[in-house]
Amino acid sequence: MEPQELLNLFLQRQSVRGYSSEPVSQESLSRCIEAARLAPSACNAQPWKFVIVKDPELKNKVADATSGGILPMNHFTKQAPVIVVMVREKANLSSRIGQTLKNKDFTLIDNGIAAIQFCLQATVEGLGTCIMGWFNEKKIKDLLHIPSYKRVELIIPIGHPADPIIRPKIRKNTDQISTVDSY
Ligand SMILES: Cc1cc2nc3c(=O)[nH]c(=O)nc-3n(C[C@H](O)[C@H](O)[C@H](O)COP(=O)(O)O)c2cc1C
Repeated sequence: MEPQELLNLFLQRQSVRGYSSEPVSQESLSRCIEAARLAPSACNAQPWKFVIVKDPELKNKVADATSGGILPMNHFTKQAPVIVVMVREKANLSSRIGQTLKNKDFTLIDNGIAAIQFCLQATVEGLGTCIMGWFNEKKIKDLLHIPSYKRVELIIPIGHPADPIIRPKIRKNTDQISTVDSY
């Protein structure tokens, strides 16, 4: 792979907030899950489970639980033919010990990394995604029979983008986010 190729993929991956009705192939979906499965995690704990919501009626109910409330967020989710719900699972013992000793939420970090691997594979598949943290967690758990003590941190709608345009990235400059040898 050429060094620029991966950077180009990062430029192509964007939050897609409009989807066509074209279905997502099972092959593509499986490769996205495989990309997430291969993600690194603290002590290799792999503290995640992906609930793939495909049943149209259930998927629309899950979509409803991502929008509404006081802010006009996430009204686009119903357009996506599939919604993936990431459940944060209990980590293995070594990760949990490390988490306590270092006072760091490794499982949250792990879930974020797996989510981006899922989304990058989706981009290669010609699919759009949007990592979402805003939703009614209780409603989602009820709909999908997720135990109440677990956390749903991220939800990812996936589908064919309605609009092929890749937006320019709005990001801080490199010198705003990195320094050499001192903070
Ligand atoms: C943890 C996390 C939570 C997010 N939650 C939402 C959300 O609930 N709704 C939404 O439309 N976008 C959400 N986003 C997408 C961000 O708004 C988006 O990644 C950011 O503006 C950069 O745009 P880009 O993804 O198109 O490059 C979330 C992204 C992350 C990483």
